[in-house]
Amino acid sequence: MSFLWTNIKDVWFSLTKRGLVLTVKTIYAELRFDKKHGVDTSRRSGDQSDVEQRLKTTAVRHQGSNSVFFNLVFSKLNLDFANSVFIDFGSGKGRALVLAAEYGFKKIIGVEASEKLCRAAEENLARRRTITKKTINYDIINSDARAYKVEPEINVFYFFDPFHMSVFREVMDNIGKSLQSNPRKIWVVYLHPRGEDEILSPKYKLVDSKAHCYTVWTNTP
Ligand SMILES: C[S@@+](CC[C@H](N)C(=O)[O-])C[C@H]1O[C@@H](n2cnc3c(N)ncnc32)[C@H](O)[C@@H]1O
Repeated sequence: MSFLWTNIKDVWFSLTKRGLVLTVKTIYAELRFDKKHGVDTSRRSGDQSDVEQRLKTTAVRHQGSNSVFFNLVFSKLNLDFANSVFIDFGSGKGRALVLAAEYGFKKIIGVEASEKLCRAAEENLARRRTITKKTINYDIINSDARAYKVEPEINVFYFFDPFHMSVFREVMDNIGKSLQSNPRKIWVVYLHPRGEDEILSPKYKLVDSKAHCYTVWTNTP
């Protein structure tokens, strides 16, 4: 019942904030995603049942990125994908990783607190490898996002509303430390904005945004 109620609330939010056309497109994309890609990334109640209680208080329930929003961002991003490394903090069942793989990133990384969801993401990426017959270089790490030590090769940092802003702030602090020791140009993509701008500005510059859908930031030199 609460699962149904959550879906109704999501649709209502989308209709009132994003309008009918985008809402219909996103629902259609959501319903088709798994069948089209040969994966299982759908939202189910109980998906995060193994996440530690300590993390549950700051975690947002599992839901895969909508491909419409993801493609709106990445189809416009002026990026050398073959030489870029993508990380998804709170990678869930790996839907964003499956989408990132389609853009041909050199490597994709998922960090996820739930071991169960990590295993699901691994399975989904393995299936994509079989279906596409392409090499997908990926790493799924079962960890609290705050404990993950940011690799210097990563230049695209992706968040789909995974946790409370207090956690996001700590993760951004870790990214800041990585930039200090290994200066480089990076992008921070945030789907379903909810106050990340207060943490990102003025250190980061807004390069793209769509109200109630996403924001894209880059670091200032
Ligand atoms: C909204 S889902 C996003 C799924 C995925 N990023 C995608 O776009 O398809 C958020 C995920 O963040 C995970 N999460 C929440 N808090 C976390 C934390 N502190 N560390 C790592 N993962 C966390 C949840 O378990 C959940 O799977």
